[in-house]
Amino acid sequence: MRTQVGIVGAGPAGLMLARLLHLQGIESIIIENRNRDYIENRIRAGLIEHWAANLLTDVGVGARMQREGVQHWGINIGINGALHRIDFKALVDKRVIIYGQQEVVKDLVGRWLSDGGPLLFEVDSVTIHDLRTQRPKIRFTHQGRPQEIDCDFIAGCDGFHGICRPSFPEGILSIFEREYPFGWLGILSESPPPDHELIYSYTDRGFALYTMRSPTLARLYLQCDHDEEIENWPDARIWDELHKRLGGARTLQEGTMLQKGITPMRSFVVEPMQYGRLFLAGDSAHIVPPTGAKGMNLAFADVMMLSRALIAFYKNKRNEALENYSATCLRRVWYAQRFSWWMTQIMHRFPNESAFDRRRQLSDLDYLTSSRAAATSLAEQYVGLPPD
Ligand code: FAD
Ligand code: DHB
Repeated sequence: MRTQVGIVGAGPAGLMLARLLHLQGIESIIIENRNRDYIENRIRAGLIEHWAANLLTDVGVGARMQREGVQHWGINIGINGALHRIDFKALVDKRVIIYGQQEVVKDLVGRWLSDGGPLLFEVDSVTIHDLRTQRPKIRFTHQGRPQEIDCDFIAGCDGFHGICRPSFPEGILSIFEREYPFGWLGILSESPPPDHELIYSYTDRGFALYTMRSPTLARLYLQCDHDEEIENWPDARIWDELHKRLGGARTLQEGTMLQKGITPMRSFVVEPMQYGRLFLAGDSAHIVPPTGAKGMNLAFADVMMLSRALIAFYKNKRNEALENYSATCLRRVWYAQRFSWWMTQIMHRFPNESAFDRRRQLSDLDYLTSSRAAATSLAEQYVGLPPD
């Protein structure tokens, strides 16, 4: 097989990149090691930044998001049961949209396949080669047969556990990381969320987040130990803790749990995000803790930059944007890293925290909810800075 851009991974990054390139007449082939059903039903992020929602609409895959997604013009910060609203409309005149990542994936896959785009599911034994030449290659097996794609460029959109990042030669990558001593236990419940907007709740029992997928489907998260087993959390214990961490600010209705799982919390960045003709985008290059909901949005920002650089290469024969890809992305990546770390560290309980640390968190939250300047800073970052 031969293509211009070989894309490894059909997550938000790979699918959006393929769409952006297709709109400019640049060919790509996507390979994915899971099946279609799996990637279209994998429950992950649910919050789309202002500019990213506009991007989905601009590239022609936003119609269902516009109909079924819910616009949010603010969030609530709970401090031991007292709710304070951060009003995005008044502060920055922007909104976010609540719409599940798996729905975004369905919309992008549906559009790509109906346009006749090549997407090979359930590929195996993927390796990449000749990265420093003008003809890098992707090798894999598909339906039991060995295959090779001859590319101009390879986009490593294969997530944190993919093969592209580990394919950099030794000594090229610097790793910056932080593990947090807790995780999030997340559930999806057939019940209305406690408020029509999100509640980020700081309590003495630990952090909780009350979000949603629709007015009748709640997505609820609890801070838990980093090595917690889901078996230790029968439904009744989860509900009990969710009620307590709401602190009486709202009432929480219980419903059937459709899904439950534990997400570890990590901050992780590799630099650089490119080697020869291999370009990493999304989770293959960086992970943020979920507080602040930056993961999927950052994946979209990377591929916006990558598509612009590839378009400049193919249309104008210019290399500069490709050469600067890593530096351009990393500036925004570090903004999101700093914001996600900050949201995480003011909201959670830490195992070895001191009384000083708790007072400092409370003061940070007090400042955030009483100063217009502090609230504007949060709002600007939360709704997302548009890519340059
Ligand atoms: P991915 O979505 O991981 O896509 C990578 C794709 O590559 C996958 O489809 C994978 O199957 C495929 N792949 C992997 N290896 C190979 C290979 N060798 N060959 C071919 N294909 C391969 N973010 C938030 O903002 N809020 C949240 O609440 C949130 N919750 C999360 C919960 C979990 C359990 C996880 C794992 C992530 C969560 N995230 C959340 C992060 C967010 O979902 C990611 O940032 C986003 O999925 C990044 O998109 P991506 O396309 O870079 O990577
Ligand atoms: C969601 C997840 C987040 O981590 C967040 O900060 C906001 C919303 C969600 O799943 O809806």
